[in-house]
Amino acid sequence: MVIFGANGDLTRRMLIPALYRLAFEGRLARGFSVVGISRTPMTDEQFRDKMREAVRKYLNDSPFDEALWAEFAQGLFYMDGDIFDAAMYDRLKVRIEELDRTRQTQGNVLFYLSTQPSQYGPVAKALGASGLSRAEREGAWRRIIVEKPFGHDLASAGELNGDLQGVFAESDIYRIDHYLGKETVQNVLAFRFGNGIFEPLWNRRYVDHVQITAAERIGVEGRGAYYQEAGALRDMIQNHLLQVLCLVAMEPPVSFDADEVRSKKVDVLRAVRPIPLEDAHDHAVRGQYGPGWIEGEKVSGYREEDDVAPQSNTETFAAVKLFLDNWRWQGVPFYLRTGKRLLATASEICIRFRRAPHRSFPRSAVGDWPPNCLIIRIQPDEGIVLGFQAKRPGPRMRLSPVDMHFLYSEAFEERPHEAYETLLLDVMLGDATLFKRTDQVEAAWEVVTPVLEAWDENPPSDFPNYRAGSWGPAAAERLIAQDGRSWTVPTAAPEETGGME
Ligand code: BG6
Repeated sequence: MVIFGANGDLTRRMLIPALYRLAFEGRLARGFSVVGISRTPMTDEQFRDKMREAVRKYLNDSPFDEALWAEFAQGLFYMDGDIFDAAMYDRLKVRIEELDRTRQTQGNVLFYLSTQPSQYGPVAKALGASGLSRAEREGAWRRIIVEKPFGHDLASAGELNGDLQGVFAESDIYRIDHYLGKETVQNVLAFRFGNGIFEPLWNRRYVDHVQITAAERIGVEGRGAYYQEAGALRDMIQNHLLQVLCLVAMEPPVSFDADEVRSKKVDVLRAVRPIPLEDAHDHAVRGQYGPGWIEGEKVSGYREEDDVAPQSNTETFAAVKLFLDNWRWQGVPFYLRTGKRLLATASEICIRFRRAPHRSFPRSAVGDWPPNCLIIRIQPDEGIVLGFQAKRPGPRMRLSPVDMHFLYSEAFEERPHEAYETLLLDVMLGDATLFKRTDQVEAAWEVVTPVLEAWDENPPSDFPNYRAGSWGPAAAERLIAQDGRSWTVPTAAPEETGGME
């Protein structure tokens, strides 16, 4: 595996720890090797030491095994170089051939693009020009993983797809969306299609609406420069949340073949009713956090963060309402929201069912009679909660809402895999089910394009418009309240206090 951008945060925090865990479980092929590439000069030894520290730091749920590390580290190598320098690829070629001889890597190479996004296209082209993109040996493969963000808009995503496809076959291009590697996100498929009892309810007849929330307590965490160009809609909704929407709304696949599953997901994106540019404000809301308090600590506003312009209009919160024009979901709204510096970190899907058609119980018997709700908790406390009415103990007929819980941590003993472990292994095995195809990426950009354009044309006048440590701007409440609904407070979230500063 060749990692471009090996001195970056992703390699340290995610990639090497994920590979180490795979090694720990005996899932890596013998001789598996990594060549890290970036501009900083470093020896193999220095790179190994750096990665050792990172693994010790980020391996928070399993012990660090010195003996295993010593063996694993023998497979870590480093090369400094400029990705725009053709000679660098010649040196890489020599290194790869050498490793093939000394560690029997079978001629297979996986390239991982984790550089600045503007370099993805040039690296792919250089891999093509140098011949590195083609395996010479019969039966060997060359694959490429592309980190997010995949483009900045529809046009740039199309261009990047062109650059990649000019060099690699589509089946060898793996566009990563780490949300798809999360156990609970994959469990949406198991829940829907591994059980016979939910599918009959999974449609406009029984579902009132769907909410998908990805709330984060953290701010931009030193990524101000990237985030300023991205914003919440691009950073989370265009990719992660729309992918979750696809899993919730897709038709049952005929098989779990990668292309079959991905085609069913594309159908969902194609069914999204285009948001009218002139009415975008009725369908989408943006926000930016001001200063506030999180867990008893004072935190600064977005505009005061490092590498963020003091007048920045980048949104750190986004909510959209979407409709799907198909038989199953006609008229059912899907509300998606995400934000930084919110009151709690919680990602969940809430399926709100329709109310019971007739109230047979007298008012005195039922105080609070919420419609049934199914919550799929992506994180934290991974699991599923189903809310329903139950009779309270006692002589009279009185009802109260109760919850039925499935918790991953209670039901299974196995350690849940981190998203990157699952995804890296899948690429090595050649399984693209959890990766995005060209048409998926482009269809997702099409969904958000009218909102991006409308927001570009009308800069916000009220930023910052929510307090760090709240649930986001008041306009997000209005977006859903105008339909007579309200956001579900993520389960186990603390209570909100105070107003906008
Ligand atoms: C990344 C975004 O893709 O996902 C980050 O760039 C965000 O801004 C992160 O914090 C959230 O992922 P997770 O796995 O922590 O929910």
